Amino acid sequence: IGPDVIDIRKLYGQTGMFTYDPGFLSTASCQSTITYIDGDKGELLYRGHPIEQLAEQCDYLDTCYLLLKGELPNASQRDEFHQLVLKHTMVHEQMHFFMRGFRRDAHPMAVLTGLVGAMSAFYHENTDIHNAEHRDRAAIQLIAKMPTLVAMAYKYGKGEPYMYPKNHLSYAGNFLNMMFATPCEDYRVNPVIERAMDRIFILHADHEQNASTSTVRLCGSSGTNPFAAIAAGVACLWGPAHGGANEACLHMLEDIQKHGGLAKVGEFMEKVKDKNSGVRLMGFGHRVYKNYDPRAKLMQQTCNEVLTELGLEKDPLFALAKKVEQIALEDDYFVQRKLYPNVDFYSGIVQRAIGIPVKLFTGIFALARTVGWIAQLNEMIGDPEYKIGRPRQLYVGAPRRDVKL
Ligand code: ACO
Repeated sequence: IGPDVIDIRKLYGQTGMFTYDPGFLSTASCQSTITYIDGDKGELLYRGHPIEQLAEQCDYLDTCYLLLKGELPNASQRDEFHQLVLKHTMVHEQMHFFMRGFRRDAHPMAVLTGLVGAMSAFYHENTDIHNAEHRDRAAIQLIAKMPTLVAMAYKYGKGEPYMYPKNHLSYAGNFLNMMFATPCEDYRVNPVIERAMDRIFILHADHEQNASTSTVRLCGSSGTNPFAAIAAGVACLWGPAHGGANEACLHMLEDIQKHGGLAKVGEFMEKVKDKNSGVRLMGFGHRVYKNYDPRAKLMQQTCNEVLTELGLEKDPLFALAKKVEQIALEDDYFVQRKLYPNVDFYSGIVQRAIGIPVKLFTGIFALARTVGWIAQLNEMIGDPEYKIGRPRQLYVGAPRRDVKL
């Protein structure tokens, strides 16, 4: 029994051993065959395949197939899967009316949490989580409809009409078209931007037992329906310590830019190191990576490609981000704590260059992570030994006492 391991028998007179592990720093909640992270080496594998190879050779729907089924698809499986997803990209027409209940200035993540939760009302024929066919159909519906819902949340906020999906386009191309086309003007899908969007989806598709995935598993463990469990994941992802970091990171860079730009980076970094300032370097640090996040490397490369394509090589925020990274890599504070850029550090700059508003960044993360959540949920439900998740606590409140009024 170490310092953090409490023998509950002594405390409560019960049998069994309990660990007290706030933040689950050293507690595995499940066994999994989906994603492997070597935080010291900075390695990420989906079903054994390195993220770098997937980002280079596959597209997002191949990655979805891999995460859901365990293997990459062959040519006919690929075609069949792509067709199946594309067939389900439209959402129930009533969802447009449901949407109207939201304020137009609501945060897209607030809207998305509601819309995904509402899918259990619109697609209630697929809500039995213990039925594999229901789960499979719900998986396809969620993967296919998330881009439509995210684009709808964007259009609604702008007061523009929704653009229906166009199924001759790729998954990423279709999303871009629903975002940027209008009934008056077509949108030309630029292959470099389309590839960058697809890569953002691949890099965010799964990341083992992070907060939102653990939330989905815990929520699903009660036997609730798949849409409700994924909505819980969306809600959890919203937080700035998790998926909301890309939004927070871009605000941080804009703020540095507003207050002096490159010349003020050093001063800002000093503030980050001062614990009393309450300022954190957003897009930096990770619970598992104690080396460079491999997704951040790929994202930096994508950032270069997109900015070059759009003639924005001199983007001041990109220059700022690279300066911040350079200072951090040489500064003892960051080196000793093994703080490196994470996936969110460059993804905001890419998305902003594409024309995606900052408020929508986390929604796009949710879109991409949906497949990971579903794969993890399926793995848990398919495990004959799975139990409802029910953490214990270490009670430190008042002892038994009588009510005396
Ligand atoms: N800026 C400055 N200092 C930091 C940062 C940061 N971004 N991250 C961690 N530290 C410091 C902490 O102050 C602490 O210092 P101390 O040992 O002197 O007290 C030490 O590094 C360890 O930090 P913890 O908060 O204990 O690390 P934890 O594993 O709990 O947190 C987290 C990980 C939440 C990602 C954290 O690094 C953070 O807040 N980063 C900024 C937000 C962010 O980018 N989140 C995205 C994560 S990736 C994702 O969700 C896709």
